[in-house]
Amino acid sequence: MKLTIIGTGYVGLVTGTCFAEAGHEVICVDNDAEKVKLLQAGGMPIYEPGLEELVEKNVKAGRLHFSNSTREGVERSDVIFIAVPTPAQPDGSVDLSFIEGVSREIAGAMTGYRIIVDKSTVPVNTGRKVAETIQRYCKAKVDFDVVSNPEFLREGFAVGDFMKPDRVVVGVASPRPIQAMKDVFAPYNAPIIVTDIHSAELIKHAANSFLALKISYINAISVLCELSGANVQEVANGMGMDARIGRKFLDASLGFGGSCFPKDLSAFIQISEQLGYSFGLLKEVQQINARQMDRFFKKISDTLWVLKGKTLGVLGLAFKQNTDDVRMSPAIDLCHRLQKEGAALRVHDPQAMEKARAVLKDVTYVADMNAVAEGCDALIIATEWPEFKQLDLEKARKNLTHPILFDGRNLFDVNEMERLGFLYKSIGRGKP
Ligand code: UDX
Repeated sequence: MKLTIIGTGYVGLVTGTCFAEAGHEVICVDNDAEKVKLLQAGGMPIYEPGLEELVEKNVKAGRLHFSNSTREGVERSDVIFIAVPTPAQPDGSVDLSFIEGVSREIAGAMTGYRIIVDKSTVPVNTGRKVAETIQRYCKAKVDFDVVSNPEFLREGFAVGDFMKPDRVVVGVASPRPIQAMKDVFAPYNAPIIVTDIHSAELIKHAANSFLALKISYINAISVLCELSGANVQEVANGMGMDARIGRKFLDASLGFGGSCFPKDLSAFIQISEQLGYSFGLLKEVQQINARQMDRFFKKISDTLWVLKGKTLGVLGLAFKQNTDDVRMSPAIDLCHRLQKEGAALRVHDPQAMEKARAVLKDVTYVADMNAVAEGCDALIIATEWPEFKQLDLEKARKNLTHPILFDGRNLFDVNEMERLGFLYKSIGRGKP
């Protein structure tokens, strides 16, 4: 099929590339001319495992193209996907100006029937507004259908998530676009759930908020574990073996971050408010998340007492493993807090150092994770990169002025760390 994706951020670029990989003919449109030039020249604006190879392969095969002309995208394809940002406004509500702008551009370029699919995460009711906008601005007065098709991919695992989705949600206002949408997703062999547009839009916010709730739940349990001397990993394993609960997203941490969970939670709370329901449960999810960072910071400051003049090593800057994304990263938040107290920082991340430089200044960026501890008063793990488990602990112990390690991601075994001579403080395992 001929498909156009408008917006080449994480979702748009992965979507376009994985559609091409499945055999569709794809054109990815972005209004950022520099980004389009970079992609056309074989460059990558983001780090996402496996994506670069797939882009290269599909560009070579002639199935994947990049352009900065929405008109070209609308003219050449039958189905147009909108994957533009829906950033948060200061009050937590969603800024829909990009969606509105793109809807108008599509309307202006339409000369025949098109299916317009919203993939961006949007408040319930947006599909209806998009349809009204296209109707209003389409001079040619041609037929069209608006579809909601929320995306559930995770950064760092985006290609795998897209190629093997648990489910594909297709929200429609009439049966007309259903077959085309089934054809688009046929190569992926995934269950396709067809709903009305409102339900599809709600599924996305409901799912992300539930996952955030799951993390806050285990983080609240981690507090109880610290107060009682229990081990949160054992509690999570025991809970997770109940198939109704499941072990995934039960890893206690210094809190969740990223460009989705914090934003989607705030948006969902606002949307609920506007609909007339105060979603107190989700407000508590936010508060538990904020307190989790406060608690971790307090662990560091209680142990080291005065941070001014101390040097601390921080492993991990990305908001999670396998990505170079530092947006709403708990690790960056922690670094800023430590700096504010006067600590000097030596930091490392396997992928995110370049992006971090824009938001984290006056720190020493260290290329080798095993060199971070040199001259530090303590080491802190802030991101769950699996390579940190291979840290040369013996070397770190010798390099640190005092062998103190704060682990915000529970990467090491408590007893083993004590045996190695560390003062080791993690999340929800034993006394704080
Ligand atoms: C999330 C959703 O998972 C995805 O379906 C949606 O499309 C976009 O939002 P993403 O933001 O890429 O994906 O990251 P995710 O892997 O969900 O992690 C989010 C945050 O939660 C990270 O900061 C991560 O470190 C944290 N996390 C995750 C935990 O603290 N504990 C866990 O058990 C899992």
